Amino acid sequence: MSDITAIEQEALAAIAAAGDLAALDAVRVAELGKKGRVSGLMGALGKMSPEERKAQGPLLNTLKTRVDEAIRVRKAALEAAELEARLVTERVDLTLPPAPGPGEGALHPVMQVFEEIAAIFGDMGFTVAEGPDIEDDWHNFTALNFPLGHPARETHDTFFMKAMEGDTPKVLRTHTSPVQVRTMMEEKPPIRILVPGRVYRNDWDATHTPMFHQVEGLVIEKGIHMGHLKGCLIDFVKAFFEVDTVVSRFRPHFFPFTEPSAEMDVKYSRKGDAIEIGEGDRWMEILGCGMVHPNVLRNCGIDPDVHQGFAFGMGVDRLAMLKYGMPDLRPYFEADPQWTRHYGFSPWLTPSVSGGLS
Ligand code: PHE
Repeated sequence: MSDITAIEQEALAAIAAAGDLAALDAVRVAELGKKGRVSGLMGALGKMSPEERKAQGPLLNTLKTRVDEAIRVRKAALEAAELEARLVTERVDLTLPPAPGPGEGALHPVMQVFEEIAAIFGDMGFTVAEGPDIEDDWHNFTALNFPLGHPARETHDTFFMKAMEGDTPKVLRTHTSPVQVRTMMEEKPPIRILVPGRVYRNDWDATHTPMFHQVEGLVIEKGIHMGHLKGCLIDFVKAFFEVDTVVSRFRPHFFPFTEPSAEMDVKYSRKGDAIEIGEGDRWMEILGCGMVHPNVLRNCGIDPDVHQGFAFGMGVDRLAMLKYGMPDLRPYFEADPQWTRHYGFSPWLTPSVSGGLS
């Protein structure tokens, strides 16, 4: 019996002395493991006479329970201490400004370019409008004068959603133009809006991703004509590329929702790997535009005999590539921090026309 008391005292002392989880586990193995001391004594019970077993059994059980319990308590204490120590070394004070260097976040070039475009048009009196990414067929196509079965619907490689019962399938908007419709339905002219947003088409190669970014513009006022459209867009391109001269042309094109429609091309030159926009010996297409089609105005409750307007739409990812010399579109969406650090912008410097864009 005194044997058992001595063993208990020894075991409890070893448990108390264990300075870390590994040392504690060594004590557990030595006492309670398969070949441990306490386990050995329990094993020996089988060889005892019934009387001896009756006397020793409860004592050994108590010993086992106490050692077990002492290990459990010590383990919890050691774990808590370990966590405490880790919390102290890993402490982050979120109220401090970010440390300069590799830990600092950066604004994605697409977001920077959204801001720059909004600053330029904001200066011309445009306000930002937004609409849903999941659109219905009417806003994305029908109201924009794409008749049912019109081939232009097919050219958009639309992602269709599963239709709700008794409904036509919703679509992931293929362009930001449905926000023209939403705005004209809700607001009275004069209207001057700029619509940044994500758009979706089933396309995938070096220069096309299934989700990309557009900015749409819409002006509806009395007496608006093509001259206003051209002046506005030429001023925009100069401001955006931060150049004094931009040679441009408006090449006739087709969009169902504008008439006449055009694509705007600008001259550029190649200097080695770099591209300079404004002058040069080549043309580059940069956006689509036109006078809002009378059918679209009527569909949105605006009388085309009273109000006219122009609209334009451009791909922001490509504009960012051109302005900041990024050769490939795919890394835009890979969230590689090294790429973002290289091409990203300070989130604290908001672009403005007077204070500087980039
Ligand atoms: N929505 C057209 C597109 O995605 C762009 C556009 C917008 C053209 C407004 C004219 C007017 O290609």
